Amino acid sequence: MVEGATGGSRDKAAALQAALGSRSIVLIGMMGAGKSSVGRRLAARLGLDFVDADQEIEAAAGCTIPEIFERHGEAYFRAGERRVMARLMTNGPQVLAAGGGAWMSEETRRHIAASGISVWLKAEAEVLLRRVKRRNNRPLLAGDDAGQTLRRLLDERNPVYALADITVQSRDVSHEQVVEDIVAALTRRLGKAGNDDSKEDKG
Ligand code: S3P
Repeated sequence: MVEGATGGSRDKAAALQAALGSRSIVLIGMMGAGKSSVGRRLAARLGLDFVDADQEIEAAAGCTIPEIFERHGEAYFRAGERRVMARLMTNGPQVLAAGGGAWMSEETRRHIAASGISVWLKAEAEVLLRRVKRRNNRPLLAGDDAGQTLRRLLDERNPVYALADITVQSRDVSHEQVVEDIVAALTRRLGKAGNDDSKEDKG
């Protein structure tokens, strides 16, 4: 039974849950794309648990992400992120918000492909920049020119994010609208695949 949804919307959620089986829905994409806020709402909509990978990494490390970067550097953070993602991917079904760089690891992409369905929340640089400027919790953007860094990271990452199973545009619309776009895309995708766990190889 799916709480927080009514009528047809509840039926759609129940059908999606059944088609999903034990797979996780993994939200990927750049910092500021809305993975956590949309993910939390998507989980409530589908009656699934929501897990934020960044929070899990902080819990495992016993300190914040900026502290991990400062004390140990990015490579150490990435190694921890790979371990935490591998562990979390055994916990489906759930909605999992990945950190913006997690998908750049081939190992992590393999774990996600094996037991999840990946959803890229795609957003334009201007939208992302406006959002990330509201907080200073992202060490990669802590330098003088966050805009330039963000654009460089987008150039590097967008072709890899594009390997996701599903792409949804994260626009300046309500989170609820983005959630509905994801539900529609998942329904199309899982409807096609049915309960078959096999997926096209995205290499
Ligand atoms: C990062 C994104 C952050 C966090 C870390 C590195 C990245 O997560 O994992 O600061 O490399 O893009 P969010 O995407 O949730 O901000």
